[in-house]
Amino acid sequence: MEEIKFSPVDDRPTIYRELLPQLISLTASESDVIANLANISAALKQALQCASWVGFYLLKDGELVVGPFQGKVACTRIKMGTGVCGKAAEQRKTIIVPNVYEFPGHIFCDVDSKSEIVVPLLSGENDPSNHNKLFGVLDLDSKELNAFGEVDARNLEYICQMTSEIFVREGQNGS
Ligand code: SME
Repeated sequence: MEEIKFSPVDDRPTIYRELLPQLISLTASESDVIANLANISAALKQALQCASWVGFYLLKDGELVVGPFQGKVACTRIKMGTGVCGKAAEQRKTIIVPNVYEFPGHIFCDVDSKSEIVVPLLSGENDPSNHNKLFGVLDLDSKELNAFGEVDARNLEYICQMTSEIFVREGQNGS
């Protein structure tokens, strides 16, 4: 069994620098998409002390359906354009929410959640035949206000691009 190792620091650039190569090696030789998503969400939850919920919502028949995650029970389905997840999916853009009480339409899955980041799972720019296909979103919640910033956005976008390549590699269709 593989183990994720990282320095016990709360320094985001260091955490991501240590985590990224391990995520790549963790998922490189596994063909099962759900198994890979489960381990990616577990590794992120382990690495980011501020995160209370980490998981994927996957695009199915035009709706987001909860996928592998770590944390409390969550909403099962989210419509495109609703909540932070649905808006990030619709706009195909990362959304950082410093204070969920100030985000109109935020969907409360956990009453203790105070801030959030949602990153779309988009296929890579290097693959013209699969360019900008949406597979779902990665969602991280925190019980702290203002828990996520640009360093998280940049690194989580990289992780989401790597994750989308797993969908492409295993022949799954996005839209
Ligand atoms: N807060 C999200 C819903 C998903 S949960 O946070 C796990 C949203 O507004 O889309």
